[in-house]
Amino acid sequence: MEQYKRTEDCGSLRKTDAGKTVILNGWVNRKRDHGGISFINLRDRYGITQTVVGEDASSELTALVSELHNEYCIAVEGVVRQRPDSMINPEMATGEIEVVIKNLVILNKCDVLPFQIEDKTNASEELRLSYRYLDLRSAGMQKRIRLRHEVVFAVREWMNANGFYEIETPAFIRSTPEGARDYLVPSRLYPGRFYALPQSPQLYKQLLMVSGFDKYFQIARCYRDEDARGDRQPEFTQIDIEMSYVSRDDVLAMTEAFIGHVFKKTLKLDLPPRFKRLTFEEAMEKYGTDKPDLRFDLPLLDFSSYALMGDFQAFKDALESGGAVKALVVPSAAFGSNSAYSRKQIEELEAHAKIYKAQGLAWMRVTGTGTEPVLEGGVSKFFTENHKAIIAGLNAKPGDLILITADIKKKTANVALGAVRSKLGKDLGLCGQDAFEFVWIIDFPLFEYNEEEQRWEAAHHMFSRPQEQYLTTLESDPGPVKGDLYDLVLNGYELASGSIRIHEPELQKRIFSIVGISREEAETRFGFLTNAFKYGAPPHGGIAPGLDRLVMLMAGETSIKEVIAFPKNSFAVNPMDNCPGEVEQKQLDELHLSVIKKE
Ligand code: AMO
Repeated sequence: MEQYKRTEDCGSLRKTDAGKTVILNGWVNRKRDHGGISFINLRDRYGITQTVVGEDASSELTALVSELHNEYCIAVEGVVRQRPDSMINPEMATGEIEVVIKNLVILNKCDVLPFQIEDKTNASEELRLSYRYLDLRSAGMQKRIRLRHEVVFAVREWMNANGFYEIETPAFIRSTPEGARDYLVPSRLYPGRFYALPQSPQLYKQLLMVSGFDKYFQIARCYRDEDARGDRQPEFTQIDIEMSYVSRDDVLAMTEAFIGHVFKKTLKLDLPPRFKRLTFEEAMEKYGTDKPDLRFDLPLLDFSSYALMGDFQAFKDALESGGAVKALVVPSAAFGSNSAYSRKQIEELEAHAKIYKAQGLAWMRVTGTGTEPVLEGGVSKFFTENHKAIIAGLNAKPGDLILITADIKKKTANVALGAVRSKLGKDLGLCGQDAFEFVWIIDFPLFEYNEEEQRWEAAHHMFSRPQEQYLTTLESDPGPVKGDLYDLVLNGYELASGSIRIHEPELQKRIFSIVGISREEAETRFGFLTNAFKYGAPPHGGIAPGLDRLVMLMAGETSIKEVIAFPKNSFAVNPMDNCPGEVEQKQLDELHLSVIKKE
């Protein structure tokens, strides 16, 4: 190999290198034969270089070239030649030169490929994941994996410059409750006992604050046994952060600064120094979700005063039962060249709203002229007296479509119409491709009521701090209690979550008790934490942005699989090595396990 070792990579030669003798190593990206001349595009991580074998080549060399197919791994030795002006390829960084091959060695052949290595492949996801090592050779995957590396590097750079220590926490722990199911690791030494893989390093990072490390971060692998979807994987990575003696605004400002640094370093983009903020309640009222996509506005409007004016009973019933009636005005401009939404399209939107428990989706169109607009179709007949007031009140224009949800549960009216808003954003192409719209969601409720189990649960996790003004009413009235919790949302995705924590043992025990954890259970599962709090635990708080989601959004993708080298498929399987796999009986015996197979 020594004599074929590359002297340059496939992305670096320029016309100033003309005349140089070089050795390149790489894969055959494409071979073209033109009347006795062969062009071989050679590819590696750095780029593509055109190499040429001319008519005057030896018969040996010509024979070798005829053997080549795509993805053969080869070494070529040759001389760099400037291309004639007419042959310059401005699309390629190396487009001004080519390498005239003197010697060629096949380092390794390549079988018939399961799919062509292309930036945008037509291969199914299953096939791509089965041959992930080939899929990763594509320009798109190479670019995204590089971006991921650069993001991690920029995070470490900023954290180090700002006094954060990177500290590893264990992968075998006692279960940390983040709301998902744990992955368990059986103990060989202690029959019937299990380690859990961390759903996040939550408790350990809090303990590091008790230990005085003050500013911690970790590029932390987390494991959650939950159904995979576009933005979820069973194992994923967090940029986990914790700080002592901080308020909520300190954590928010720190996050804005480090995310700003990451975008500047990697995408060369300037983010605003401060991100917008919405309270949880505002987000639900205005966008029907705590993850609003603010790349487009389209807010939900309160329709209740108009509902009361009209004769549509379903709207009135919703309001009389303490619910809500909400409207969305979809501007005609949003429909582009299809100047209106068809009945069929509205029915599709209604079906979508029903997934989110809406009873239906009422609609009306604004028609007429600018000075004399009127409402038409759908439920407009119930509001004949009030067309003008509605149009003016909602600030609607001729051509606009008004969509309305009503429900005895305010949340349902908001969430269903919010889902319609999100769908419209996608369908109508309102989400700018290269736009990054960050928004903080703050003042979340601390508890959520679990209707099925008839008990209160922690909305985020059990270690988040209630806001000071609720400390006396925690037990008597948990519903309205707000926590010092915050989420960072980017383009409709929850990018990060965090909170100011509880640091007093007594307050922590009160929260355990409200969410129905008995004193004994709290002692067994979290005794080490409440115990640690007894030793002068400092006030602290933190946050954890998901690295996979961050890189996915930066890369303009909609699945985190596109930015993970070896992800699992939607069934939590890696089709390449087919894990999870069966193990030998001997291994099970050592672990004191027996498997009961389902019929
Ligand atoms: P949380 O559970 O909200 O908070 O997770 C924080 C962030 O991690 C990412 N994330 C995921 N990414 C991919 N696949 C998953 N299955 C997955 N689950 C979560 C998201 C999410 O916003 N310990 C707390 C943080 C804290 O309070 O400091 C925690 O883990 O981007």
